[in-house]
Amino acid sequence: MRIRDLRNVSKIVLALDLTEPKRYWDIMGELRGLVKIVKVSWVTLLTIGPDGLRSLISDNNDVYFLMDAKLADVGFINNIIANRLKELGISGVIVHGFVGKVNMPNVSDLDLLVLVSMTSGGELYDSNFEKVISIIKEINAAGAIIGGNKPGLIRRARLYLGSEYVILSPGIGAQGVKPGCAIANGADFEIVGRAIYESSNPRDSFIKIEEESRKAKCT
Ligand code: XMP
Repeated sequence: MRIRDLRNVSKIVLALDLTEPKRYWDIMGELRGLVKIVKVSWVTLLTIGPDGLRSLISDNNDVYFLMDAKLADVGFINNIIANRLKELGISGVIVHGFVGKVNMPNVSDLDLLVLVSMTSGGELYDSNFEKVISIIKEINAAGAIIGGNKPGLIRRARLYLGSEYVILSPGIGAQGVKPGCAIANGADFEIVGRAIYESSNPRDSFIKIEEESRKAKCT
């Protein structure tokens, strides 16, 4: 499964940063049939461990799992980690762009998503935007992560990347960016965590947010 092929399937990447193991299965159960892409993280790995992650993925084999590893090591270490993640069933990995082209992992059939701009801080990123985003084309990564509260950068990234690469934007919901706003500016997917898993009815919240994201409006 490649993330670019899911653009018409769903607009939401569900971020699961849960600190109680059982909740991963509870939330996935509640969202069965709706959620198509899940972003897991170090929080996930530290909560359910590698074996738990492998089980979570095999229990939800119709879902694309993206690991927000924010890799930032030298190339050969990034490669070991990325390969291990692929063995667990992960389909895509997030890598810090600042480590440069030379340190990007290279694993066949594993999407690389390059972090290009953060929702908060990350000033060094934004002052080197052109340099960082050019890595995506140079290594033929799957695409970019750009904060949803940076509409100008999302537009610039879309212009530069064209339609071949995906843009994923976090910061939607709990951090204040309206669902649909990042997509209105050129993102393909909106990353949403707490606004779904902390709501009193995650299923209803998911449906509502997906609907708003699909409208791709920012008013
Ligand atoms: P919430 O609960 O705020 O979760 O919807 C956001 C998810 O996105 C990940 N992430 C980022 N969050 N700025 C952010 O605010 C970033 O630049 C960024 N990159 C990734 C975050 O780790 C959480 O899983």
